[in-house]
Amino acid sequence: MRKTIIRSVFAGLATVIIASCCGGNTATSNENDAIKNIMSRKSVRSFTDEKITDEQMDIMLKAAMAAPSGMNLQPWSFVVLTDTSRYDKVFAGNFNMKVFKDAAAVVVFCADTTQAVRGTEERVPNTLWRDDLGACTENFLLAAESLGLGAVWTACYPIADRMGTVKTCLNLPAEVLPYSIVAVGHPDTENMPKDKYDASRIHIEHW
Ligand SMILES: Cc1cc2nc3c(=O)[nH]c(=O)nc-3n(C[C@H](O)[C@H](O)[C@H](O)COP(=O)(O)O)c2cc1C
Repeated sequence: MRKTIIRSVFAGLATVIIASCCGGNTATSNENDAIKNIMSRKSVRSFTDEKITDEQMDIMLKAAMAAPSGMNLQPWSFVVLTDTSRYDKVFAGNFNMKVFKDAAAVVVFCADTTQAVRGTEERVPNTLWRDDLGACTENFLLAAESLGLGAVWTACYPIADRMGTVKTCLNLPAEVLPYSIVAVGHPDTENMPKDKYDASRIHIEHW
């Protein structure tokens, strides 16, 4: 009887210790910081004139480059623009300039659409670059959210009139395409995340 009580007390203590160590960081908890960050992310389209720091930009770009990548080819490159006087020229295609106008930075996510054939100089199409760039763009947005910044993903590929001027103005090599464009800065109003959860989209075992 005494042994059973002692065992239960130890088991209880272990549970409390594990729970307090892992806290909100268990994979299933809604309080997990990473899950909270994902659920809080929202598109932000208007900004204050406050700049963002180099360190913040580094963190967001590091997060972007931590994305998964087909065959780990990492076909991404980034052009970071902070000189607002160039925006009108670079984004002369059919963009919503209101979004870019006050952004502290506008980042062009570029994709090398080719891959090297192992052991040769030859380059062939990389069929997975779009997937990699999507994951990379989302990682950047999540990092922005986690830093208290606001950001919005603006489509570029495959919209010809958006891609054309960006490609030319930024001097992108022939095999490199502008995939997405992210405006980032300090939000000037409170923005709420949208609740997109829809249980009817989930099919268990079969549709
Ligand atoms: C592929 C893609 C393209 C997008 N293009 C634009 C765009 O050109 N302009 C814009 O204002 N928002 C754009 N968005 C942002 C969406 O409008 C936004 O994600 C959507 O309305 C859901 O809102 P949320 O991001 O706040 O959850 C784009 C998002 C994605 C994923």
